[in-house]
Amino acid sequence: MKERILSGIRASGKLHVGNYLGALKQFVELQNSGGHECFFFIADLHALTTPFEPKELSQNTLEVAAEYLAAGIDPDKSVFFLQSQVLEHTELAWIFNCLTSLGELLRMPQFTEKAKLSEYKIENNVTARRQFIVNAMNDMKFHVNAGLLNYPSLMAADILLYKPTLVPVGEDQVAHIDLTKHTAKLFNNRFGETFPIPKTYLQKPLRIMSLSDPTKKMSKTGDEALMLDDSPQEILRKLKKAVTATDTKKGSPGVENLKFLLEQFGGTSRVKDFTKYNELKESLAKKIAEHFAEFRNKKTKIMANKKQLTQILAEGASKAQKIAGKTLAEVKEKIGLI
Ligand code: TYM
Repeated sequence: MKERILSGIRASGKLHVGNYLGALKQFVELQNSGGHECFFFIADLHALTTPFEPKELSQNTLEVAAEYLAAGIDPDKSVFFLQSQVLEHTELAWIFNCLTSLGELLRMPQFTEKAKLSEYKIENNVTARRQFIVNAMNDMKFHVNAGLLNYPSLMAADILLYKPTLVPVGEDQVAHIDLTKHTAKLFNNRFGETFPIPKTYLQKPLRIMSLSDPTKKMSKTGDEALMLDDSPQEILRKLKKAVTATDTKKGSPGVENLKFLLEQFGGTSRVKDFTKYNELKESLAKKIAEHFAEFRNKKTKIMANKKQLTQILAEGASKAQKIAGKTLAEVKEKIGLI
């Protein structure tokens, strides 16, 4: 029996080098190893939890779909689909919302980060943290949509509907996968063995940092992320502005990030030879531009035929729905919905 793997990427913007190294590259390798049954999707419903414009959302969804394919996801080898086209995801998410405690959801690091709870200077001690969260929620400035809080229940549904054994993600998603495991155990204990407990597939803890603020992760919504379809000139321009350090001997988180990227894109042996950060940046820009040259061409061709792209997604959704439908029927029966 092949191991089943599943993962998704939000449709909040085009993909950057962090998404590639943390997730997409692994997806393609796992798919091509031939030893796995793969499910990959675009989380367009999760994209509704942060500010969005309808036109941009549909454009971003198509761009992310084209990027999956240009990077090597093959719809003949993997089930590749759009989350919102398989209705079972939202139905199971509701059921999980009714199983998961509010405290668990409030503790998720991504919620506290995205809800900007950090502005409230939350302390580390648990009781103080709880009190701060309650105070923040009573604060009139706290405009956070409920979807952001319930985000992990939808993610647990995305995963458990397909009963995968492995979920490849970057480090920032680990807490969400842990909550998914917890939800699966809760469900199994209360309603009988239903979900296998999935494992997080993390090749090594991997977090690509922002070029302008290397204490934060590179993100789709942050400024100046290195996008996979950036032109060679654009890559160089962005890297030239990257924060490094004033002293070449001391290094800094920004320098470590650039060196790590250089290793990832095949420049390992030369890392120690650089005497100036400009040389490091130019060499890195060249490596990244070369690495994604074929990707850029493929993406342009795929985007030129949007009809075919939407057809691929529709076919993927219909394959995914067959499995999701079975799991949901099993869940409904077990919990007494007739
Ligand atoms: P998203 O769209 O933010 O990111 C997609 C994948 O890219 C990884 N990633 C990174 N890895 C390293 N360094 C970075 N700077 C970096 N930024 C992003 C993420 O860890 C992720 O693996 N909630 C998910 C989408 C999702 C999902 C799922 C994933 C929805 N349902 C079910 C797995 C299973 C998210 O927002 O990822």
